[in-house]
Amino acid sequence: MPITPTKKIWMDGHLVDWESANVHVLTHTLHYGTGAFEGIRAYSTPKGVTIFRLREHMERLLRSCKILMIEVPFTLDELCEATAQVVRVNELHDGCYIRPLVYLGYGEMGLSPLSSPVNVAIAAWPWGAYLGDDGLANGVKMKISSWARHSPNAMPTASKTVGGYVNSSLAKVEALKAGYDEAIMLGADGRISECTGENLFIVRDGVLISPPPSEAGALRGITQASVVTIANDLGYEVSFESMRRDDLYLADEAFLTGTAAEVVPIGSVDDRLVGSGKPGPITKAIQSTYFQAVRGELAQYESWLARV
Ligand SMILES: Cc1ncc(COP(=O)(O)O)c(C=O)c1O
Repeated sequence: MPITPTKKIWMDGHLVDWESANVHVLTHTLHYGTGAFEGIRAYSTPKGVTIFRLREHMERLLRSCKILMIEVPFTLDELCEATAQVVRVNELHDGCYIRPLVYLGYGEMGLSPLSSPVNVAIAAWPWGAYLGDDGLANGVKMKISSWARHSPNAMPTASKTVGGYVNSSLAKVEALKAGYDEAIMLGADGRISECTGENLFIVRDGVLISPPPSEAGALRGITQASVVTIANDLGYEVSFESMRRDDLYLADEAFLTGTAAEVVPIGSVDDRLVGSGKPGPITKAIQSTYFQAVRGELAQYESWLARV
């Protein structure tokens, strides 16, 4: 999806003009994928634009960096304030997507990043439905990828490591070229892991089931966690269980969750309709409550929203 430029990008404590937010070609992360990022969304609410679960995202960014042994030269509070500043200064009142990136800069080459400078950038721009408005409303076509999710002993799956996303990108391209909207990736053990940038749930006999993130080698999704809370509040049972592709083919309903994608019904998997192929009632209830929550329409979820 194309990026719409905004005015300023935060780089290492300063607001830089969008066009000038450049890095040197010998930036370490550009060569080796060393670094970590986040994806966050802000939404328009009755109290102005607010950032959804900002602190949790920045905590995860710091955890990603801890795994990579990267010391971020900014505190959690400073990162949260910088993010709010980017939304404010770019006047993104209607909401936006926010991309914080910790990268290793120019100064060292070779595989040890230990003495490379650590840089942080935060950009934001307006971004529509990641899997399209039609997908959001009517469901997406999923393909089980021939690319396995990398094993946690090959690449830490709890960290949003820059280089780790080559694995997701291979699966995404394969799915798009084959005429699908998104890929589902199996772990090295053949069980369902996650999608290229989303977690997934199935509904079976009224119970929501999602693969347990750490066992499945999946990212611990913040949307996934929000959906668990919402589902429980709506009176649905949620269970974390490992699953195989048959469980997807035979599910009553299925949907995926992620900050960029939001809550998206799954219409089919490998050309087999999930349920009737249309978004099911539980998926619709979760999706509509999620959108009400992010848009500040439900008082019980207000603590999830950070003012800018
Ligand atoms: C691989 C992967 N899985 C799952 C997710 C969903 O996580 P979240 O809901 O926190 O955006 C993401 C997005 O960050 C991701 O990149």
